[in-house]
Amino acid sequence: MATNGNESPKAVLEVNNLKIYYETPKGDVKAVDGVDFSLYEGEILGLVGESGCGKSTAAMGVLQLIVPPGRIVAGEIRMGDVDLLKLTGTELRKMRWTRLALIPQGAMNSLNPTMRISEQITDVIRQHEGKRSKDEMKTRILELLQWVGLPERIYNMYPHELSGGMKQRACIAMAIALNPAVIIADESTSALDVVVQRVVAQTMLKVKKAMGVSMIMIGHDMGLMAQMVDRMAVMYAGNIVEISGVEDIFKNPGHPYTELLIDSVPSLKERKPLKITEGITHDPRNPPPGCIFHLRCPFVMDRCRTEEPARQEIRPRQEVACHLYEKQEDGNYIDVRTIVTNP
Ligand SMILES: Nc1ncnc2c1ncn2[C@@H]1O[C@H](COP(=O)(O)OP(=O)(O)O)[C@@H](O)[C@H]1O
Ligand code: SF4
Ligand SMILES: [Mg+2]
Repeated sequence: MATNGNESPKAVLEVNNLKIYYETPKGDVKAVDGVDFSLYEGEILGLVGESGCGKSTAAMGVLQLIVPPGRIVAGEIRMGDVDLLKLTGTELRKMRWTRLALIPQGAMNSLNPTMRISEQITDVIRQHEGKRSKDEMKTRILELLQWVGLPERIYNMYPHELSGGMKQRACIAMAIALNPAVIIADESTSALDVVVQRVVAQTMLKVKKAMGVSMIMIGHDMGLMAQMVDRMAVMYAGNIVEISGVEDIFKNPGHPYTELLIDSVPSLKERKPLKITEGITHDPRNPPPGCIFHLRCPFVMDRCRTEEPARQEIRPRQEVACHLYEKQEDGNYIDVRTIVTNP
């Protein structure tokens, strides 16, 4: 992670209090309900959580690709001095791909079946840079294919001629074509077999290192994430409940929901039972008061049912939204589960 000399990392993207709702006849689904995070220069931030917790909505929201019945209700999305939510449509289109690129969920299946891979990459470059000579374009595209480890012959191929892993790498080539500062990859390694997942993950790591790009990697495979990301944001029902350095989060998860997620990672040594069986239990149109997780939390206390916990840095690089952690006079946090009360 890059630092500015004072050892504080520099944020390339800051998302503050982002709220995105979907209108339905029975009320608004609060898919993203006050999300805050920063992405630092040169890092990979993992965004994890069960299906339906709002990961894709948040990603689409950052690029303002939300379409009705969805709408961005509130928030601020900053890249440097610019609040993306205040840009005009034209200004925003200029930033997409050049500053901020999204590989959407299912991107590899959305490639245009009637266009060769080279034509699809050409389209992205042309939209932003105008017409280029055929030779220049070809050289650039072949270079991009090389970056993502695809052979030259892919240049003239159609998507149906490529394996899943190759298509996914073609999507990465498209995302890096205009050298963006930030790439958001939504479930780019999902729906691939384990070996191919690793190849795609390695491609992303290589691209990140070589181009110095910052990435948000969305997924639900905690094992794969553990090997790739620098920090991890854990999302539950539209909220980020924990955001921590990857080693801290695996060694010492702070939020009870993070603990559940980690316990559900099948270990090679001991086959642990999958503890997450329920999914999000409340109606997303009517989230419970207090802590969003209190209906499923094994440690629920009275105050959890009424008071929403603020996210606090309970340990260095570990921010958790949970009433289990209380700040002491010396500034340190204590886990109330460790307090022994005298009978
Ligand atoms: N077009 C839509 N209309 C109504 N609800 C939606 C729509 N798209 C997504 N949702 C709801 O928003 C929530 C978050 O969905 P999504 O962002 O796709 O989650 P994830 O990517 O984490 O699986 C879910 O409850 C989902 O049902
Ligand atoms: S605030 Fe309470 S209900 Fe929520 S995660 Fe912490 S202990 Fe559980
Ligand atoms: Mg999704």
